[in-house]
Amino acid sequence: MHPAGVGAWRLWPKRAAGFAKRRRQITPLAMTDTPRLPVGSGLHYAHGTLHLEQVSLAELVKRFGSPLYVYSKQVMLDALHAYTQGLNPHPHRVHYAMKANSSLAVLQVFANAGCGFDIVSGGELARAMQAGAHAQDCVFSGVGKTTAEIDQALAAGIGCFNVESLSELQHISSRAQALGKVAPISLRVNPDVDAGTHPYISTGLRDNKFGIAHADAVAAYRYASELGGLHITGIDCHIGSQITQATPFFDAMERVFDLVDALTEQGITLQHIDLGGGLGIDYQGEQPPSAVHLWQTTVQRLHARGLQHHALWCEPGRSLVGNAGVCLSQVVVCKPTAHKNFLILDAAMNDLPRPAMYQAYHEIVPVTPRGEPPLLWDVVGPVCETGDWLGRARTLAAHEGDVLAICSAGAYGMSMASQYNARPRAAEVLVHGDTVHLIRERERHETLWQGEYLVT
Ligand code: LLP
Repeated sequence: MHPAGVGAWRLWPKRAAGFAKRRRQITPLAMTDTPRLPVGSGLHYAHGTLHLEQVSLAELVKRFGSPLYVYSKQVMLDALHAYTQGLNPHPHRVHYAMKANSSLAVLQVFANAGCGFDIVSGGELARAMQAGAHAQDCVFSGVGKTTAEIDQALAAGIGCFNVESLSELQHISSRAQALGKVAPISLRVNPDVDAGTHPYISTGLRDNKFGIAHADAVAAYRYASELGGLHITGIDCHIGSQITQATPFFDAMERVFDLVDALTEQGITLQHIDLGGGLGIDYQGEQPPSAVHLWQTTVQRLHARGLQHHALWCEPGRSLVGNAGVCLSQVVVCKPTAHKNFLILDAAMNDLPRPAMYQAYHEIVPVTPRGEPPLLWDVVGPVCETGDWLGRARTLAAHEGDVLAICSAGAYGMSMASQYNARPRAAEVLVHGDTVHLIRERERHETLWQGEYLVT
């Protein structure tokens, strides 16, 4: 009997006749080729099963359970290398945007590789420092920094505040003076460039809440130069995320360079130009420009415009970790229905919210392919929401108990995971060569009510 049939038969033995009728509607699809694995993911099949670096993912699930996030250290280091290759020998700093994946061991990989961090909260600053980062290697982005966060960053000796409004300029200036500190600042400029990405992750348009309008930037710098407790060090810009074309980057870059020229004319000189993050990755066959190409071209343009005495900074997140990670999940139930077939996994929107939030596509592949005719499935989680899906209309041959790999899950996966439906968050593993490190334990039920009180 077909795999989907086996599961259904076991669940509804008395309804076998009804199921047989339904089964006719789930005609197997033609065999497909080997599953597509995203470019730059380090995933490969060996001995009939999926490996990351030299580690069998099937073995990891046996050892650590499911769902399980697994990351490749080598893929992260290779991704970082593409940035340094493009930027060298120009003076530069790569600040890993840790919102993409803030697990301590992941931060440690980047800290040890010489990265600084782009942070957006006091919590991120504390995490980065817990992983071995120095505050002076961190830039503090974000539109709504609180007094407590500004004070924390000043006390730690933050490398730079990326300031997003005039009100924030005043706020940082007054806190710095109150604490007897000088705050290094750059202004985040909103260049009004369309990054051509999902509207929720586009940040460089004038309708977005981010940054100071390009047209107002020179006046804002003049204002900053009159405030006490501030040291103007640079300029910053970030136009969005999962950008797959070079043009919006270069348009924003030229507009930032224009501002640097205008500021120089006004006697305001800067030491660095931060062009943000945003480079996309291959989820579904996208072919974003390489970091090498992007940054070599940027360095060339910087020189061509006579601005070579400025250091180049950047804030990549997704492109450093996205394809370094997979979320492994076991099939709990195969549920064919009259209209659709559902593969219900033990991972859900709480583990990987991107499909539910942005209709994002993640490649889903079997860890140990069966070589059987596949069916068309909607791959969903067990959370009580119709929006709880991980992949729609996927061609897969899968049985209950099989393990699937949800690819490109290293960025904005675990860092956006929640405990919705009282689901403990997954464990995480880092592999390097054939070594395996458990970097986060699976949460236990007790973890979920830590810090809560019953009323007596
Ligand atoms: N710098 C700033 C100021 C940012 O806001 C971001 C991302 C980055 C750098 C890093 O961008 P990346 O290189 O990762 O594209 N949760 C969404 C993505 C949100 C991005 C927010 N800002 C997703 O899952 O697609």
